[in-house]
Amino acid sequence: MSETIEIVTAPQELRRRVRAWKSAGLTVGLVPTMGALHEGHLSLVRLARERADRVLVSIFVNPTQFGPDEDLELYPRRPADDAALLAANGCDLVFLPEVETIYPPGHSVFVDLDESAAAPSRGLEGAQRPGHFRGVATVVTKLLNLAEPHLAVFGDKDAQQVAVVRALVRDLHLGVEIISSPTVREPDGLAMSSRNAYLSDDERQAASRVYATLEAARRAILAGERDADVVRQQMTTSLAAEALFAIDYAEVVAADSFQPVSAIDRSVILPVAVRLGGTRLIDNIRIDLDGNSTSEHTRTTK
Ligand code: PAJ
Repeated sequence: MSETIEIVTAPQELRRRVRAWKSAGLTVGLVPTMGALHEGHLSLVRLARERADRVLVSIFVNPTQFGPDEDLELYPRRPADDAALLAANGCDLVFLPEVETIYPPGHSVFVDLDESAAAPSRGLEGAQRPGHFRGVATVVTKLLNLAEPHLAVFGDKDAQQVAVVRALVRDLHLGVEIISSPTVREPDGLAMSSRNAYLSDDERQAASRVYATLEAARRAILAGERDADVVRQQMTTSLAAEALFAIDYAEVVAADSFQPVSAIDRSVILPVAVRLGGTRLIDNIRIDLDGNSTSEHTRTTK
């Protein structure tokens, strides 16, 4: 028997539902998504379920975070499948707004980060995708304002996005707890992504080299390598050995600021981005030099 789940599209209805929960003394967790849900998204939903009494998932393919030449039109949309998966994973309510609801005619206010102040949006995805984090910061602010959750869950898969959201919540005093959740991977290490569906068989096979590269860098650092340039070079050489890859970046950044480091003497994140044919893949691992080798708990699914 398939479970059903309630879907709301109007902000007034969303607010009414969330406020009713709060009046009953229940805590609310939000998981923002763009749909085409996979195990990675569902792990966020389950974490929200553990941490809040009620779980709300938004599904909205946010046009303002896509560049003019990106895959907005192509981005997979399957709300019926998503609703069934959410029902089975402890979600209580789905918010599925129209573009015109989030960006009504005359819409003119955006949330942006000041990159002169070494904002975490500077560099990497921010440099490769101009305007991307402005779109993310804007829509996340809107979703937090609409849903007024106690907490919101984001994936470490998009670690720079997590840093941007944390800065946003701090600087705009949004009063919501931000929780990040470990990257869920395929058995060969490839981080799950809605965009993996674009890969041909050959590309899919090649894609596993992204995580293999990160793991080799982790081993080098845990073996004592502290020169970030050596690690960058090692990652670049490893990625370049795959003829199908075009490398966007392979970096070593401070975990808190997301700015490049020269010495690996604190918690770092190793973010990489490659293009394979028309598909762009991003991934990262975090390494904490506090005695525990890493904060990442790799999960795979059968
Ligand atoms: P989307 O790509 O749909 O991802 C929604 C959430 O799922 C993000 O927090 C993302 O980091 C997380 N996620 C994706 N793949 C994951 C994986 N393999 N393991 C763990 N978590 C994973 O990210 C967005 O949407 C948008 O930018 C959004 C925040 C919704 C704003 O539009």
